[in-house]
Amino acid sequence: GGGDRDTLIGAHELSVKLYHYLLMNTTHGQPALQYLRSRGVTDKQIDHYMIGYAPPEWDTLARFLEKREYNLALMEKGGLLIAKQDRSGYIDRFRDRIMFPIWSRDGKVIAMAGRMLGEGQPKYLNSPETMLFNKSRNLYNFHYARVSMRKNRRVVLFEGYMDVIKAWSAGVENGVASMGTALTDEHASLLGRNADEAVLCYDGDNAGQAAALKSIPILERAGMRVQVAMLPKGMDPDEFIEKHGAQAFMRETIEHPVSATKFRLLYAKKNHILLEEEGQKDYLLEAVGIIAALDSPTEREFYLKELSREFDMSLDSLKQDAFERRQQLQ
Ligand code: GTP
Ligand code: MN
Ligand code: MN
Ligand code: MN
Ligand code: MN
Repeated sequence: GGGDRDTLIGAHELSVKLYHYLLMNTTHGQPALQYLRSRGVTDKQIDHYMIGYAPPEWDTLARFLEKREYNLALMEKGGLLIAKQDRSGYIDRFRDRIMFPIWSRDGKVIAMAGRMLGEGQPKYLNSPETMLFNKSRNLYNFHYARVSMRKNRRVVLFEGYMDVIKAWSAGVENGVASMGTALTDEHASLLGRNADEAVLCYDGDNAGQAAALKSIPILERAGMRVQVAMLPKGMDPDEFIEKHGAQAFMRETIEHPVSATKFRLLYAKKNHILLEEEGQKDYLLEAVGIIAALDSPTEREFYLKELSREFDMSLDSLKQDAFERRQQLQ
């Protein structure tokens, strides 16, 4: 019941404080702190996001919670602990990981994510789904982002925790991330209630671009206007900021997103060999199909004109094709 939920939230908040303390104030935490600093994470970011460190021992948190008379079975249900195989007790879920608290929309800690120091699998370990945490409903950083989102009616979507954190220091106060899952209709409807415009800022790799393509209709269904901020090939926002700095990130990516339609066209273009005649024709027809699906006649004309200039085609023939494609849609 509500009692269990409150108890679990309390235990999460205490755990976050413990992990944060271990990171900042103990020799145990030094390698983790070094790792964070080597990635350009500042003390200000560590404090704002209450980043911590879960030590490598089996039962640091289990003993800590037991001493404070928490019901360990409940802590296991809440995802903080794991029952031992022989059921003789409990061990910590998170060990030797950098810890990121995950907040509910009203700012309560309801889950955590733990990142390995360095390479290895799984890179991130998240809390499981619990009575507090539903990853298809929760977005990382939503409780911080909400104020700026509502004020500017705009949200920026990232893939990763580190992207949100670095972008925050670069001046993006309205950044959120889904946590290792694809964006859901529930995420989108939460965002749609707080903003009118979404900027997708996913990783500049194939997976990121494919994810952006999938997120566009989900956000559009929630009534949002969608734009896409493009990153150089193979870079994510966190890496871009480390390499080129906050100003370049704002100026070259966030402040110059392309429209969802433009992104769809660019994405389609990548799959065709434009140096070949067949490739050009295939792309043109695919592009016309993308444009034909747009509801606004003005927008359709706008993109068809662009296409006609780019490929030196008559606008009339493109319009005719688009018209036929549109009739097939209805
Ligand atoms: P860093 O390497 O720390 O910068 O992480 P990243 O955010 O750049 O990682 P990546 O682009 O690979 O993944 C994006 C997001 O997907 C992460 O922030 C996580 O939320 C999630 N993710 C990545 N790897 C894993 C994993 O091994 N398990 C789970 N559950 N989620 C993951
Ligand atoms: Mn602190
Ligand atoms: Mn990625
Ligand atoms: Mn990434
Ligand atoms: Mn990254």
